[in-house]
Amino acid sequence: MTPVVLIAEELAPSAIDVLAYDFDVRHVDGTDRPALLAAVAEADALIVRSATTVDAEVYAAGHSLKVVARAGVGLDNVDVVSATARGVMVVNAPTSNIVSAAEQAIALLLAVARNTASASRSLKSGEWKRARYTGVEVQGKTVGVVGLGRIGVLFAQRMASFGTRLIAYDPYIQPARAAQLGVRLVGLEELLRESDFISVHLPRTPETFGLIGEKELGMVKPGVRIVNAARGGLIDEQALAVALAEGRVAGAGLDVFVTEPTTESPLFAFDNVVVTPHLGASTAEAQDKAGLSVARSVKLALQGEFVPDA
Ligand code: NAD
Ligand code: MLT
Repeated sequence: MTPVVLIAEELAPSAIDVLAYDFDVRHVDGTDRPALLAAVAEADALIVRSATTVDAEVYAAGHSLKVVARAGVGLDNVDVVSATARGVMVVNAPTSNIVSAAEQAIALLLAVARNTASASRSLKSGEWKRARYTGVEVQGKTVGVVGLGRIGVLFAQRMASFGTRLIAYDPYIQPARAAQLGVRLVGLEELLRESDFISVHLPRTPETFGLIGEKELGMVKPGVRIVNAARGGLIDEQALAVALAEGRVAGAGLDVFVTEPTTESPLFAFDNVVVTPHLGASTAEAQDKAGLSVARSVKLALQGEFVPDA
């Protein structure tokens, strides 16, 4: 019988073409839980992005599952421990969208610095208000990078060209490695106290969830601008709303939210908060790379061949 590959979220057409040749490709909405559990019962492979929760219940329903593929970086929606216990392989595409994610963080940072979104909204509504939307320059400012991994490094390298002073908090990185990049490693408290801009580039884990909460936002340099294009919940949303209301935080750029999808948040009420609906990886290039990478891995896994690191 032809193995079934179940695609639970949007995947690049080029990747679907790769799979359709050898496999029975089926589609389901991964956020529709009953539909997912029914469809996975016949699947040999399951492909998801970030909106589908792949947990023990999914593995129990997927009697024939051999591989779960995450078309992207973060594996916080895939229970890898349960997969391993059931002998299901988990693959992702760890470098596919890192440039896009870093560029999205920079786009948000600049939009917050220059009030781009609110000024655009204002002009389109018939106002011409130049003074109201005066911003700040990035050059000469201290930029704090929380998490100096693949995306944090790309973000830092690009921000260096703006003439910024770069500091980072990442206890798992060697100071020499950071120094090579022109970044000074500091503790979290020092980063919070010194940064004019903070950008978070962490995975969501039990350790990082809520890493920047009420206490940490109480330590920031007044007027800091904060960007999160990594994962919702790394910065506590309630605490951020309070810090924005008090003016301690001058603006925020947010691509991700603690609950997704969402169309409501106290943060949406602030004119100095720029939001996007988890678009960090939503570029033609990143989607092609992520889709093709997982399509190749799924193909190898279902053909019983060695799956190299993507
Ligand atoms: P990475 O694993 O290369 O880097 C993560 C870094 O965080 C590592 O250097 C690690 O040492 C550091 N880290 C881990 N725990 C830490 C802690 N407690 N304190 C400080 N640093 C810590 O991952 P990456 O490719 O840079 O991606 C980071 C995250 O970005 C992903 O896990 C994913 O959740 C998110 N992401 C979002 C989008 C998007 O569409 N918005 C796209 C891609 C990735
Ligand atoms: C990722 O972790 O790769 C991103 O959040 C992108 C995505 O899921 O689409």
